[in-house]
Amino acid sequence: MSDRQDHPDRLTVGVVGTGYVGLTSAACLAHLGHRVTGVDIDARKVAGLCRGEVPIAEPGLDTLVAEGLARGGLAFTTDLRALAESDVVLLCVPTPTGPEGTADLRAYDAAVDSLAPVLAPHCVVAVKSTVPVGTTARTARVLGRPAVSNPEFLREGHAAHDFLHPDRIVVGGTDPSAADRVAALYDGLTAPVVHTDPTSSELAKYASNAFLALKVSYVNVLAELCERLGADIADVAETMRLDPRIGAAFLSPGPGWGGSCLPKDTRALLHTAAEAGVDFAVLAEAVAANRHQHERVVEKVRQAVTGSTEGSLQGSRLGLLGLAFKAGTDDVRDSPALAVAARLAEAGAVLTGYDPGVDRDGFPGGVVQLVDDVTLVAKDAAGLVLLTEWPEFRELDWPHLADLTDHATIVDTRNLLDSATLTRAGFTYFGLGR
Ligand code: UDX
Repeated sequence: MSDRQDHPDRLTVGVVGTGYVGLTSAACLAHLGHRVTGVDIDARKVAGLCRGEVPIAEPGLDTLVAEGLARGGLAFTTDLRALAESDVVLLCVPTPTGPEGTADLRAYDAAVDSLAPVLAPHCVVAVKSTVPVGTTARTARVLGRPAVSNPEFLREGHAAHDFLHPDRIVVGGTDPSAADRVAALYDGLTAPVVHTDPTSSELAKYASNAFLALKVSYVNVLAELCERLGADIADVAETMRLDPRIGAAFLSPGPGWGGSCLPKDTRALLHTAAEAGVDFAVLAEAVAANRHQHERVVEKVRQAVTGSTEGSLQGSRLGLLGLAFKAGTDDVRDSPALAVAARLAEAGAVLTGYDPGVDRDGFPGGVVQLVDDVTLVAKDAAGLVLLTEWPEFRELDWPHLADLTDHATIVDTRNLLDSATLTRAGFTYFGLGR
């Protein structure tokens, strides 16, 4: 209590769930001066966090955790009762996709139920987990206290940076003083704050991610059109980027969008729309276009490796460069690289894969033999397929890799490499949309 009088703006904050959203939020809120306790049911994880061991690869997060622990503003426990004094409790438990595209709220509901007897009367609950529209209002009813929707917009690989430099903060609550308390968590950050109702706030999160998916699907189909017409997607996209109404980001063609958020959130939004009786065909089409993109990459590889649209990939040794869903992460969940790999394997190809971020611990195995040396991917390969845009791929010893292959053919699904450099190195180079 005396501490809070010394620091009138400092809040006592509980964070339930110390996954990538919860741990990032806890460490960053401690950095902003709040007194934060992170709670997780995983005792081993909590023990590690108490020693400053950060289980996820997020740049800067280990420093923030170490700083919080050292200053005493950050603690971890498995005991929810530690949140009894909290002014705000953030719900950051996972909400994976369940059957039919709906979110699986079992972990979320269990957390809410266990919190009910613990929280002080004045405590406000903030919902950071991405939850179906209506969940925040239901949570308020279950707990008999104000609940505020406060979605996160953290990119994997940039989570701590994004938390401390947000584009916007969304606070969706019906009780003004509860909403103000949640907004006060972010005092000191310079970002516009959208004050709204919980339903709009929940929808805003889905709407943002689904729109990003739509943008990438749009550019991927456009790249296909460029190939047919003899246009260059790089120049077409650059022209679009220069229009501030369109925006510069998310206009790079690739093997399809993936990761732990975009596929899950588009499915959930489609489900919400269907339940509400709204035909969100443009979004359904973006999902279909994404599947088509995986297939299109396979057909491109078939053409590049066999020289024909009818050629067989049966027994062809293919080397995959990149398996993570994007560069800068070790995450292969819903990775487009693996979606393409599954289809190549179905077509009979024998696959070896290398990714600078992925090791055997985090890799599900399956149709790709993971190797930790890029030369093993090239050795005797009938072709290489670049699937993740790791910048270091540009610096590889391409002439040496060309020598190691059986056929120096490469399909660069991210348009990452310089075609002239690859051609000089001896490769027959294929990009997307050019
Ligand atoms: C996303 C949102 O960006 C973030 O705001 C939200 O909170 C969580 O979901 P993340 O899943 O980390 O973040 O990945 P993101 O960087 O958005 O990329 C999503 C997918 O789209 C990746 O597979 C990426 O490779 C692909 N992508 C992105 C493209 O193919 N082209 C682009 O131009 C941009």
